[in-house]
Amino acid sequence: MQVQIAVIDFGSQYTQLIVRRVRELGYFAKLFQPSELPSVGQPVAVILSGGPRSVTEIDAPDIDYAFLETLNVPVLGICYGMQLLNLKHGGEVAPSHSREYGPAQLEPTESTGLFAKLSDSSQIWMSHSDTVSNLPENTKVLGKNQEGIPVALSWRKGWYGIQFHPEVTHSHEGTQVLRNFLEMTNDPPRFEIQSFRDETIAALKAEIGDREVICGVSGGVDSTVLAVLLNRAGSNVRPIFVDNGLLRKGESDQVVESFKQLGLEIERVDARDRFLQALAGEDEPERKRHIIGNLFLDVFWDAAKDVQLLAQGTLYPDVIESATSGSIASRIKTHHNRVDRILELQKEGRVLEPLAELFKDEVRALGKSLDIPDEMLFRHPFPGPGLAVRVPGEITKDRLKIVREADAVFIGNLRKHGWYDKVWQAYAALLPVRTVGVKGDERSYEHAIALRAVVSEDAMTADWVELPHALLRESSNTILNTVAGVNRVFYDISTKPPASIELE
Ligand code: XMP
Repeated sequence: MQVQIAVIDFGSQYTQLIVRRVRELGYFAKLFQPSELPSVGQPVAVILSGGPRSVTEIDAPDIDYAFLETLNVPVLGICYGMQLLNLKHGGEVAPSHSREYGPAQLEPTESTGLFAKLSDSSQIWMSHSDTVSNLPENTKVLGKNQEGIPVALSWRKGWYGIQFHPEVTHSHEGTQVLRNFLEMTNDPPRFEIQSFRDETIAALKAEIGDREVICGVSGGVDSTVLAVLLNRAGSNVRPIFVDNGLLRKGESDQVVESFKQLGLEIERVDARDRFLQALAGEDEPERKRHIIGNLFLDVFWDAAKDVQLLAQGTLYPDVIESATSGSIASRIKTHHNRVDRILELQKEGRVLEPLAELFKDEVRALGKSLDIPDEMLFRHPFPGPGLAVRVPGEITKDRLKIVREADAVFIGNLRKHGWYDKVWQAYAALLPVRTVGVKGDERSYEHAIALRAVVSEDAMTADWVELPHALLRESSNTILNTVAGVNRVFYDISTKPPASIELE
């Protein structure tokens, strides 16, 4: 897709959010490193992001300003971007004595242009330590904070700077500021998932031709959308599904069946015994993950055999992450010859990543436009190592059976009472402690189950959900009465941090 808005990344924690907001407003935005400015193509506007550094430092991140001027498009500098533009226009920036972080008030002094349709005073979100100290001649102040300090400038027509972050929701009218800026481009909003889909399908057709494409599927959103997209592009796609025996109750058959409904035959590789054998006796969390990750690669590549093309469901946040911290494959901590093979294929241009420009919610929208049912698009996240991270300690067939049954009861109840879609992720885990109970006239000595339901912001933080007591009671009763080997049920009331979402 042709980039409409180039966002230059000076390293702020909010840069991805800028791109997301701009796309939500219908403009196709992408993130570029400052050094990539000359290769942005022909954007209709440029946004310079905030960043943690000070523009007054000797080796502070910089841009090719002369090139930026030749683009002749509106430019918006946010925070660091504003300070940089103030310097470029001949002004000065001074380190401030304290870091300003958090809410402030914006009081616009203009009611047109960048600040059209704003209130007389609204909350904005600050996160900076430098301030512009000396304004170049002819600089217009567009807005001040509650103390009368300028927080928005325009140095000349089309060149703007704001000290606050319009991309965060704490800046209450931030979206309107971004919308006003985008409207100055005189370019209409053009980013729609349907056109993205059609362009991608056409491009895939041209690139793939009659070659075979391998992809791994798990039943998760990204790999499902990927496989269906390839299929709709008319390509000869071979979706491979590794059943590692660590899936939830009935999940393996369900994945195969759901794909069938979508017109795709997937190749299921039954590796359940191999995984169980490889995990036998292992109780250390990192080792378990390592074993599962490596064995997955082995099983997948053995099934794939001769690969002409490999498709991966890489998303935009992974791409951004790898641009700042090295390639994705090089960050995988295993020195596995199969990873080398992926790198090799990448070098030869034989890896397709058609979702690499999309955020997760955009992948869902794409999936919807491909007629993938909501059950597949809005399923809770499920970790790659599967139930292994929900059974601390050694993995055995019996323990997996217990956790599967308990999970099915809990998730079934969440669905039945309309809570499944209200929580971000939920599951049952097995606690490998055994405690005493009474069953009938006999004492029991059995395992405990922990139920967990959380809401989360991108999995970075999570809070436990106050589920109705009746739902918890029903789940607990059913688990205690029907799942053999369990005599106690707990509800996990830990936030992340300090806990994580999964147990291992
Ligand atoms: P934690 O437990 O770190 O989990 O709070 C955060 C989110 O990531 C999922 N998760 C994984 N997903 N492979 C995955 O694909 C993994 O190894 C993995 N570990 C955790 C977890 O389910 C939660 O949504």
